[in-house]
Amino acid sequence: MDTECIAPAHPGEIHILQLTDSHLFASRDARLLGIATADSLGRVIEAVLAEGRHLDFVIMTGDVSQDYSLESYEIFAELIRGLPCPVFFLPGNHDDGPLMYRIFPRITSQVHVAKCLLCEDWVFCFLNSEVYGVAHGWLQRDEIEFMNARLREHQDRRAVICLHHYPLLVDSAWLDTQTLHNQNEFLSAVSQREQVKMILCGHVHQEQDRQAGGIRCLATPSTSIQFAPLSHDFGLDSKGPGWRYLTLYRDGGVSTEVHRLPPDLFVPDYGVRGY
Ligand SMILES: [Fe+2]
Repeated sequence: MDTECIAPAHPGEIHILQLTDSHLFASRDARLLGIATADSLGRVIEAVLAEGRHLDFVIMTGDVSQDYSLESYEIFAELIRGLPCPVFFLPGNHDDGPLMYRIFPRITSQVHVAKCLLCEDWVFCFLNSEVYGVAHGWLQRDEIEFMNARLREHQDRRAVICLHHYPLLVDSAWLDTQTLHNQNEFLSAVSQREQVKMILCGHVHQEQDRQAGGIRCLATPSTSIQFAPLSHDFGLDSKGPGWRYLTLYRDGGVSTEVHRLPPDLFVPDYGVRGY
């Protein structure tokens, strides 16, 4: 089934948690640039639970895994078990997308594989921009056709398009080689639809809030390592792992906040010069 429906607990308000770029390994103890990524996702989820906000659902915007392993997806399913709501996802460039769509229904009922979600008067599309084994993104024709079909079908709803790769440049030369390489095709498609209000991404491991032709494009800190903004070459940021809350209102309004763990809890290895 490619479309699901959820009714929010509070009519007129949809409360969403975005998690992104957990970069989990087959081993819980494995580290990415010095950070134990399973620990950092676990601490993020503890912090979310401690904040006690109502959540209707979670959107995980890719790079769940760092090593494409089945075990990394099993660890993700275990770590999110405490969250009191369903989790929707899309693959990132470090994921094995076909494995995710196949395996999550077998190992957990909490992670949903639907690529379209209807919630009150909004429609959400979860697109796969992964090109297996390379860092940049590309939306295949069937992904764009899927999005266009859902937008036409639900043209009376406002839309949020979710994908891993941020479709705009972030003024960071090394990261800007890894953008969505058919960004013009994608942005041309969404800009023809006034209903599209937001594009929600991961991949850049930093907070971004830019506009593309009147559409708000958000990116969110990773639950693991952070990339230094505006850095010409690869560089790590000293900010802590993060997450994003979004509230969508019936009148089309959106409120959003990025929260982070304290910066001293997970300190990366700044000596590493590549990723
Ligand atoms: Fe990532």
